[in-house]
Amino acid sequence: MTITVGPRSRIAGTGAYVPERVMTNAALEALVDTSDEWIRERTGIRERRVAAEGEAASDMAVQAARRALEAAGLSPSDLDMIIVGTISADMPLPACAAFVQQKLGCPGIPAFDVAAACAGFVYAMSIGDQFIRSGAHRNVLVIGVELLSRVLNWKDRATCVLFGDGAGAAVLTPAGDDGRGVLSTRLYTDATLAESLCIPAGGSKEPLTAAGIEEARDKVHMVGGDIFKVAVRNLTSASREALEVAGLEPKAVDWVVPHQANMRIITQVAQRLDIPLDRFVLNIERYGNTSSASIPIALDEGVRDGRIQPGNTVLMCALGAGISWASALCRM
Ligand code: UT7
Repeated sequence: MTITVGPRSRIAGTGAYVPERVMTNAALEALVDTSDEWIRERTGIRERRVAAEGEAASDMAVQAARRALEAAGLSPSDLDMIIVGTISADMPLPACAAFVQQKLGCPGIPAFDVAAACAGFVYAMSIGDQFIRSGAHRNVLVIGVELLSRVLNWKDRATCVLFGDGAGAAVLTPAGDDGRGVLSTRLYTDATLAESLCIPAGGSKEPLTAAGIEEARDKVHMVGGDIFKVAVRNLTSASREALEVAGLEPKAVDWVVPHQANMRIITQVAQRLDIPLDRFVLNIERYGNTSSASIPIALDEGVRDGRIQPGNTVLMCALGAGISWASALCRM
């Protein structure tokens, strides 16, 4: 187990953005053989947001980033690095982070994407934290953004009812000596179930063909049941490890900001950690599963509505394709 010492980073500001267009469960009933009741009972989702035509992932990311920068009292020119967690970048090449940099107008600093799917934001935060701890960089913008509505098969009820579009961001800066900051981060991947959640075509293994498009092989495929069991187990163990590394017990956690994939997963993790559900920041009902954006959107909501207070201990945990999962413990 690695324990890093040195000037840790802290979250100096958060921001979020969701597209205006709301898609309810009722609207999905018109597209696939599903029901509002099934979606609510099996997932906890009532509605999700869908990006406007012409809106790109980087557009959403920049909106969230500007809000996070404003909250941190910084401008784009203060940034030293941009890390974007996403699997739905504007284009396969270059990185979404490059377009974020272009739109923020801060050329020259490193800007790159992290492809850790739903764990992307926590991965990005952990990487940013390491650069700050090492002294290499000061102000790192970390973003989770997904425009999944464009990579979903809208004829597949097993996936299209689950996901939504959105972006969340945080600005990391060097922490002072007041005990605030990123206390620990833990990152994991186990590729045993790599094919259980994937976009099969469109990469170098299976270049896109007309037949591939016809069969929706360029869209998200998921064997949900496989992921469910692993999610409960791994989110719980990753959360415990983040706490252990920081020398804290679950009862020290003021707020859990979990990845919002399924209310039943979250409930089971809460039970196993013995942390009451009313200490979880939840928004799955309104936004569905926004993959890498779900944690930073919920974090920003908790901060802005005053639930998450300075000095609070916040636990984040996420799991998605890879299977990659991650946890982070922060004193805000
Ligand atoms: O964020 C990335 C990581 N992803 C996750 O963490 C997702 C983890 N998995 C899940 O959240 C759940 O497995 C799902 C919500 C995806 C599915 O729930 P489930 O309880 O595992 O359902 P299931 O796939 O076992 O399907 C149960 C039944 C099936 O019908 P039969 O075979 O029992 O007749 C499905 O065909 O529900 C049916 N079904 C639906 N029915 C109505 C599947 N999707 C739908 C739907 N509407 N949208």
